[in-house]
Amino acid sequence: MKILAVETSCDDTCIAIAKGGKTFLNFKILSSVVSSQVKIHQKFGGVYPSLARREHEKNLPFVLKESLKECGLLAIKKNTIPKKEIVLYEKIFAKEQNLLKGFLNFVGQYKKPRIDLLAVTVGPGLEPCLWTGVNFAKALSSWLGVKIVPVNHIEAHIFSNFLSSDARRLAVKQKNVLFPSIALIVSGGHTQLILVKELGKYKILGETRDDAAGEAFDKIARILGLPYPGGPAIEEIAKQLSMINDKLSIKLPRPMIFSKDYDFSFSGLKTAVLYDYKKRPKKIRESKEYIVQMAREAQEAIVEVLVKKTIRAAKEFKAKSIILGGGVSANERLRTLFKEKINKMAAKPLLLFPEKYLATDNAQMVALCGYFYWLKSDKIKDWKNIKACADLRIA
Ligand code: KG4
Ligand code: ZN
Repeated sequence: MKILAVETSCDDTCIAIAKGGKTFLNFKILSSVVSSQVKIHQKFGGVYPSLARREHEKNLPFVLKESLKECGLLAIKKNTIPKKEIVLYEKIFAKEQNLLKGFLNFVGQYKKPRIDLLAVTVGPGLEPCLWTGVNFAKALSSWLGVKIVPVNHIEAHIFSNFLSSDARRLAVKQKNVLFPSIALIVSGGHTQLILVKELGKYKILGETRDDAAGEAFDKIARILGLPYPGGPAIEEIAKQLSMINDKLSIKLPRPMIFSKDYDFSFSGLKTAVLYDYKKRPKKIRESKEYIVQMAREAQEAIVEVLVKKTIRAAKEFKAKSIILGGGVSANERLRTLFKEKINKMAAKPLLLFPEKYLATDNAQMVALCGYFYWLKSDKIKDWKNIKACADLRIA
């Protein structure tokens, strides 16, 4: 069977095509395309939902074409689209006129590819962005005559770890080595600590009360005059150890590190950075030395809180593994600190993290999650019953 997955929850337009078989082990990515909008949002230092939606509308037909081409499923065939179908597509894309044009153009030019199932991210995420992907999947579903699995974006980030066949083998053959697990999903929009009893069974232990960890990286980078996305920019500049000394004595709080719950809060950290920045003379705060040291301290503050709370949850729930996901999980310092702390634990849970390019948004993880539910004959829906849900919860 072949599955086509669509992901548009934030600012990346992503489509992946994969091949499945009889079990969770038989899964192979055939193609994957990510069209990043970073350049567009860089000017604003963050993602503007209405702008992102407009870009998704423009990108989706093109990304579809590229992903089909990459795996040899694109074939030219001029078609006249029946009036009845056009009326249906007009209804689906009532709020996305540009996407309607792009979709009709595609359907009029290419042969129906042999796809057996669709998967689409329905939430959580930015509402207008989610709807473009969801409506695109609905129209494709109607055109191809196949069903859709609606996918939770947070769950997809958990699944990004299982794109590795080794991790999949463990999940199938040695479940007791992996579960229960604690998943830390940290991205631009979300920070959640989740108890994973097994794949498909979750309980949210805690989450951010205000800004997400990635959002904190992005906002702090902006204060320091670093480009968007802030996470990679801060990580990169914080590596310049030759700039580190005690002269500036920069010290930031570790918000909620000792609180008894598993919640997080990062907006105070951003305020603390802004406060320190404003009180320094212009010459100092714009110096390389200051920017490097502040970036490093901010990264330490965020990473220490994330690691401390995750390790505490792992101990309390006797986790066999810790699973990382989301853009912030690409951070080397976060991965290193996890390894150090796990080494000091008696139980030494396994540490799973996705390959860096799969830590940020992509449709491969959506395809795998959709495939998982297809194998269970669960969540497979008619396109008429699919809708976006910006604040969808995993449990
Ligand atoms: O998962 P993702 O691609 O999109 C959302 O679902 O939000 O995550 C994007 C976020 C951004 O806030 C970005 O600054 C952060 O992930 N990020 C990083 C790194 N790479 C991306 N944060 C820290 N270190 C990184 N290397
Ligand atoms: Zn994400």
